[in-house]
Amino acid sequence: MTILPPEVAQQLRQAQRVVVLTGAGISAESGVPTFRDAQTGLWAQYDPHQLATPQAFMRNPKLVWDWYAWRRDLVTKVVPNPGHYALVAIEQRVPNFNLVTQNIDGLHRKAGSHEIVELHGNIFRVRCFTENVLVEDWNDLIGKGLPHCPNCGGFLRPDVVWFGETLPVEALAHAVKASQSADFFLVVGTSGIVQPAASLPFEAIDRGAMLVEVNPEPTPISPYVSYTLRGAAGIILPALVVAAWPDQA
Ligand code: OAD
Repeated sequence: MTILPPEVAQQLRQAQRVVVLTGAGISAESGVPTFRDAQTGLWAQYDPHQLATPQAFMRNPKLVWDWYAWRRDLVTKVVPNPGHYALVAIEQRVPNFNLVTQNIDGLHRKAGSHEIVELHGNIFRVRCFTENVLVEDWNDLIGKGLPHCPNCGGFLRPDVVWFGETLPVEALAHAVKASQSADFFLVVGTSGIVQPAASLPFEAIDRGAMLVEVNPEPTPISPYVSYTLRGAAGIILPALVVAAWPDQA
């Protein structure tokens, strides 16, 4: 059983500006596969170069669409877990809160979080591959083969960030700014190797924030954190909320 150091709960309770960075691990207990866990991770079973790059899409748009349609279907059927809900509780209890996620599954919003920065996009949105603009009401466009842009006729693509692409500029700027002013930074369920998301915790520690990691496994960020809480987010995060605000449990 993971011991929850009282200093972590105390610091969270007193924090003025909290930033949480999440990765695929927070959705694992909802049944969404992570990317890099051995055996079960998506990148252990599928080649990202065939599925998650602009070149892959140009080569075989149907394969990429079908893969994202499968993932969209999967995340439509799952529900947030206690880890997602614990982050909603933290947002309700601290003066300033930002949730920065690399996840495209929409589960933080489904759980009830509000201040969400989606660094890698959202699987439920699509945009035109040619014009790069979002397309609303695109569900009517599928079912007749590959969906095309109603404006220019080009292919539609999921509004997610692929390898080799830059992150949405405003989302990244917001995440960096929030990280630089955080006094408590929680990094949850990410392997911490995909940039620039993985550098956000360092923006926070450079300015004196307490950095706490929640992950069953060590990551490249682990050596730099103030505290590591080893275990599943769905167990650790609710326990952290109760420890920080025992009067509101
Ligand atoms: P990864 O699959 O790289 O890492 C998932 C992390 O979650 C690992 O460190 C696991 O140990 C941890 N984990 C597993 N189960 C957990 C649980 N129940 N509670 C807490 N942690 C758990 O996923 P990300 O770090 O999110 O990008 O990957 C970053 C990016 O790489 C993704 O956004 C995606 C991927 O390629 C793009 O597709 C652009």
